Amino acid sequence: MKLFSSVNDVTDVNALVKEALQLKQFPYAYKDLGENKTIALVFLNPSLRTRMSTQKAALNLGMNVMVLNIDKEGWALELRDGAIMNGNTVEHIREAAAVMGQYADIIGVRSFPGLKNREEDYSEMIFNKFVEFCGVPIVSLESATRHPLQSLADLVTIEELKTRARPKVVLTWAPHIKPLPQAVPNSFAEWMCKADVDFTIAHPKGYELCSDFTQGATITHNQEEAIADADFIYVKNWSAYEPYGKVFGGNEDWMLTNDRLKNTNKAKIMHCLPVRRNLELSDEILDGESSVVVHEAANRVWAAQAVLKRMLEGLS
Ligand code: CP
Repeated sequence: MKLFSSVNDVTDVNALVKEALQLKQFPYAYKDLGENKTIALVFLNPSLRTRMSTQKAALNLGMNVMVLNIDKEGWALELRDGAIMNGNTVEHIREAAAVMGQYADIIGVRSFPGLKNREEDYSEMIFNKFVEFCGVPIVSLESATRHPLQSLADLVTIEELKTRARPKVVLTWAPHIKPLPQAVPNSFAEWMCKADVDFTIAHPKGYELCSDFTQGATITHNQEEAIADADFIYVKNWSAYEPYGKVFGGNEDWMLTNDRLKNTNKAKIMHCLPVRRNLELSDEILDGESSVVVHEAANRVWAAQAVLKRMLEGLS
């Protein structure tokens, strides 16, 4: 594997999930695979889980790890081709990515969207420039439109905890105070559409996701109907795709409470974290038996390890 940026980079999703679960059982089975290999984890935005879980995954495989918070510790990057760099940017991404590729065998990149220009964000300009110029295998640590390591961990979690062969999985919008990217819901949707699950998306009117990611999903504006008989409820806020990056206010009643879960199939509640308590999800759910958010975060290690293992196996 040379690129992990979406579910489309995986030929057999079930096999990758199985591999992640095997690594969970035997974390050090491939501890020599990454000997003398280095991964550089490059962050243009904050992170807790992605940073620590990917680092741990790489260490379990015997790799060296370098972390660069390029937004704070690196030179200000120029992204535009042909720019006359007489402003605040100091280094062009062409040189920066190429140089990183000289120091690392694999590069991970986190690059959030600006949420101002949909065409630019959905072209994955920053992530794709790293792919173009770094010259080594590259893994997305969350890009403008997708978060594939999160989605793989989510699918691993569903596979582990499901109580029927084809579980009902619901992605529900939740309230927030600021516009958030569509990367996590886009990505979760496209992975669920390829998994053996009964998948529904519920959101208030106006928060339709880009249809490229939701082919095969049932989509509704009625949360109560959506979560009836659900086995898993994935809670997440996102801003509008059209008009891009906007939030409309209201819809505070979309925050789940225990009372709302009565008609579910003892649904397990998922969230990628970080979560704003009593805004996106209530204390009673996060602190109760239905929440699997920490379990889900723990599975980030095995998702990352399965992907890095495949990338290491592909290095010459
Ligand atoms: N879920 C997730 O990616 O968490 P971080 O943003 O903390 O890495």
